[in-house]
Amino acid sequence: MRRTLVAGNWKMFGTRQLVRDVIGELRAMAHGATEVVICPPYPYLGPAADMVAGSALCLGGQDLHVAVEGAFTGAVSGAMLRDMGCAYVIVGHSERRQYFAESDELVATKAEAAIREGLRPIVCVGENEAEREAGRQFVVVERQLAAVTARLGASAMTQTVVAYEPVWAIGTGRTATPGQAQEIHAFLRGQLRRLDANVAESVRVLYGGSVKASNARELFAQQDIDGGLVGGASLGAVEFAAICMAAQGM
Ligand code: PGA
Repeated sequence: MRRTLVAGNWKMFGTRQLVRDVIGELRAMAHGATEVVICPPYPYLGPAADMVAGSALCLGGQDLHVAVEGAFTGAVSGAMLRDMGCAYVIVGHSERRQYFAESDELVATKAEAAIREGLRPIVCVGENEAEREAGRQFVVVERQLAAVTARLGASAMTQTVVAYEPVWAIGTGRTATPGQAQEIHAFLRGQLRRLDANVAESVRVLYGGSVKASNARELFAQQDIDGGLVGGASLGAVEFAAICMAAQGM
């Protein structure tokens, strides 16, 4: 049975106070049934690491550079994230693909670098609005996932998490319906099964895109939805805690 995972992607939002508020709220309710990962901006990883210590919560980075170290001003390596206590790192978020021109190839290299450093990559895939309108959503997510599976192979894929995030649903308040999301999740699971049956059963496939407390329960009840990647709603301590409770079936 796959353990549900809820990851809070803060993007370039938040303050030190928010770290205290969110982790303070979640520490009280987090327990072993659901894994909860907070992905704050880099400067907040230190204070967040102090606060999650001894709890069931864990930390993730929002991105990483592929090198271990080097003269890459502004960049942060997987080794540094690991050193700060991260267990996860998001790779291939649509905002990275769109605003930082990250290709499928680079995303695959980042996933590989994450695993090399002992981090679990949360690999994001998802079609944009025009692609969905053209009925190309399956082709797009298949291509994005295939770049990563081809690079990692079955054994490393067991260390990954996949997140389906339709771009038209991110930050728009327009959530995919549970049926639309389940359809893509089942497709992604099928792609993983073509690689290896064990990978298909062990890899968690998260849904992201306007997840909130009011829709989380219905989304997480879908057979192939193993949790969520939550942006805006992870910036409110009470709202995010409610989403985590929905994931725990409480
Ligand atoms: P959202 O963002 O929940 O604000 O739609 C999700 C994400 O980008 O990971």
